[in-house]
Amino acid sequence: MWAVTENGFYLSATNGKMLQIYGGASLQVIERMMNRDSIRIYLSRPDITDREIEAVCAVLQGPNLSLGPKVGKFEETFTKYIGRKRAVAVNSGTSGLFLCMRALGIGPGDEVITTPFTFIASATPIMMAGAKPVFVDIDPVSLNIDHSQIESKVTDRTKAILPVEVFGNPAGIDRVCEMANKHNFAVIEDSCEGLGSSLNGKMVGTFGTMSVFGFYPNKQVTTGEGGMILTDDEALADICVSLRNQGRSKEGGWLGHERLGYNFRLSDINCALGIVQLSRIDEIKAHRRQVARWYQEMLADDERLIVPFEPDGCEMSWFVFVVRLADGFTLEQRNRVLEAMVSRGIEVGNYFPPVHLQPFIAEQFGYGQGDFPITASVSQRTIALPFYNKLSKDEIAIVCKNLKGILDELL
Ligand SMILES: Cc1ncc(COP(=O)(O)O)c(C=O)c1O
Repeated sequence: MWAVTENGFYLSATNGKMLQIYGGASLQVIERMMNRDSIRIYLSRPDITDREIEAVCAVLQGPNLSLGPKVGKFEETFTKYIGRKRAVAVNSGTSGLFLCMRALGIGPGDEVITTPFTFIASATPIMMAGAKPVFVDIDPVSLNIDHSQIESKVTDRTKAILPVEVFGNPAGIDRVCEMANKHNFAVIEDSCEGLGSSLNGKMVGTFGTMSVFGFYPNKQVTTGEGGMILTDDEALADICVSLRNQGRSKEGGWLGHERLGYNFRLSDINCALGIVQLSRIDEIKAHRRQVARWYQEMLADDERLIVPFEPDGCEMSWFVFVVRLADGFTLEQRNRVLEAMVSRGIEVGNYFPPVHLQPFIAEQFGYGQGDFPITASVSQRTIALPFYNKLSKDEIAIVCKNLKGILDELL
């Protein structure tokens, strides 16, 4: 049974008590919710306007669904936005990172240093190339690889460093590059989460020898699926162009193949979508910044939570909004909070379980509990809250009210 009072919106629970569900929400939102069976606040939603739909339809009505002009146009728009010489569109961020390995000649016997606190697809392309991911623990504030620990993991097999701007935060990427330059290592910058962020005015995606963005629908800019490799090195870009297209050569035509290649092409349909999305990046960033600010305003005073902020010198393009329980809370407590949020119709995530503890990686490389203590401690307390361009202040109030209520009940 529903009840709306001055203080909010109540639902009668099975034990006869009234649960306050939407305290603080406006009547409009409450009415919207009442017309549904239950609340549903999504973790992520794409933001597609009529312009994207028209652009995609125009491609569908034309002759070039793939290998047409939209691919080059998307790449050109991207190079201009990021400020690099070359861009190579591919069908995912994972494919892009793998092609970087291939273009840089990384293979069996080689080691690539990376972070264990990331999405798994930072590490798997290293393994797909036959090389070994060597993990280095993270900085407890930025949650990015701790540059001061990298040196201790360098061996004569180290070929590259693969830093990630986790959750879109570029803090420390400059220090990683300084360290890599000193040793003459390539940097493969995994910028899949950081499109539009910058550090001291330098855009994410301009730090690495090669950099990769991803366009899965939860990203700042989506193409449905897709990715983009960026580099200033013409030769590396040319190899990627060949690798993504069955190893074809520039001169060899459709059936001339000069190397082992793949079909990692991004279609014109996806690229048309990406062109419009990228043209809206400032508006998208502004929406996401506003959503992040509302969360910060509503949660910052809660001592049970660590709330993300924009680090000094960084302009964040917010990818997700991940709070974490304060030091001392356990994995079990965090998981109970996640379950309770989901049971109330609010989608949340546990970004990220440590990559080195994914069973197939732990087994192959001998990693275990106790390795990388900061990663272990952080990742057991994270709660990714609903986050997307059009999330309203009222919906954020619902999320925060529920989160605080659950913390009151459970912790
Ligand atoms: C840090 C990071 N690296 C790599 C990827 C892989 O990108 P994709 O899903 O496009 O393959 C992602 C995507 O979620 C990511 O967040």
